[in-house]
Amino acid sequence: MVLIDPYGRKVTGLRISVTSRCNLRCIYCHHEGEVAGGREISREMAVNVVNAASRLGMRSVKITGGEPLMRRDLEEMIAGFKEVAPGVEISITTNGVYLKERAERLAAAGLSRANISLDSLDPERYRSITGAREGDLERVLDGIEAAMLSGLRPVKLNMVVLKENEREIPEMIEFSRKSGVTLQLIELLGEGPKGDLESVERLLEAQADGVLTRELHRRRKYFLNGAVVEIVRPIDNTEFCAHCNRLRVTSDGKLKPCLLRNDNLLEIGSTDPDEIERLILEAVRRREPFFRCGDADAGR
Ligand code: 5AD
Ligand code: SF4
Repeated sequence: MVLIDPYGRKVTGLRISVTSRCNLRCIYCHHEGEVAGGREISREMAVNVVNAASRLGMRSVKITGGEPLMRRDLEEMIAGFKEVAPGVEISITTNGVYLKERAERLAAAGLSRANISLDSLDPERYRSITGAREGDLERVLDGIEAAMLSGLRPVKLNMVVLKENEREIPEMIEFSRKSGVTLQLIELLGEGPKGDLESVERLLEAQADGVLTRELHRRRKYFLNGAVVEIVRPIDNTEFCAHCNRLRVTSDGKLKPCLLRNDNLLEIGSTDPDEIERLILEAVRRREPFFRCGDADAGR
């Protein structure tokens, strides 16, 4: 079966924030649209949500935070997901600082793929963007290597393009080519010193050996002499919402039908899979594009 919301959008994936804690303080962090603080979802509840979601036909689970590796029980949690939903593909978004020590065990537990944030290869700039401590950049680089060695595929680097790091893009492309990872150049959302992603894209267009356009958000993927670069830029808001196919679970145990709204959440409050199934169905019924085609002021 496939879940379909009242606007005809398939709901194929779950995005679980397993903690709001983080060891970094990135200047651009949007905290996954969550309000800070609160309890942390229990492993049992997370596993039961994945169980119910897979029974309802969802195929993928993305683990986010905060920083997911702040949780010591992440390996057990992933193993739990795999036990109740063997066919579900599990991925993680992490800042990578604590990845080196855990990549192998995470992969063994059932993790398939990883997105690792890396905004700069220059230690000073990395620290000024992320608030990291001395030595953290080295840890992230080791973490990327460990992820590759553990067989996680694909490994993608998330680089949020800012004024202060846009000149580093050629180096980042070279680095990703050498390491065999995909580079994702991400447009900054919200206020801040945004880099010029449009000129970057023009340059890529001129230099690329090939270009692919993914259906999801019409993301473009450039191939340059062995390097793979993806541009992550919402082309326009209505299109972004029209393609939204995931349901969010907040770190304090609520189903969140829309990233941009905090007024239609559902408290999970139960570890009974049947009750959770009912709540997921209700959350899917509450899904509504934040930006809709034909809205004069795009939104509300
Ligand atoms: N703009 C764009 N991407 C963001 N991320 C977090 N905050 C923002 C923002 N304001 C993304 C980055 C980071 C991941 C954890 O979330 O890609 O690597
Ligand atoms: Fe936010 Fe992620 Fe940076 Fe942590 S690593 S501050 S969660 S963007």
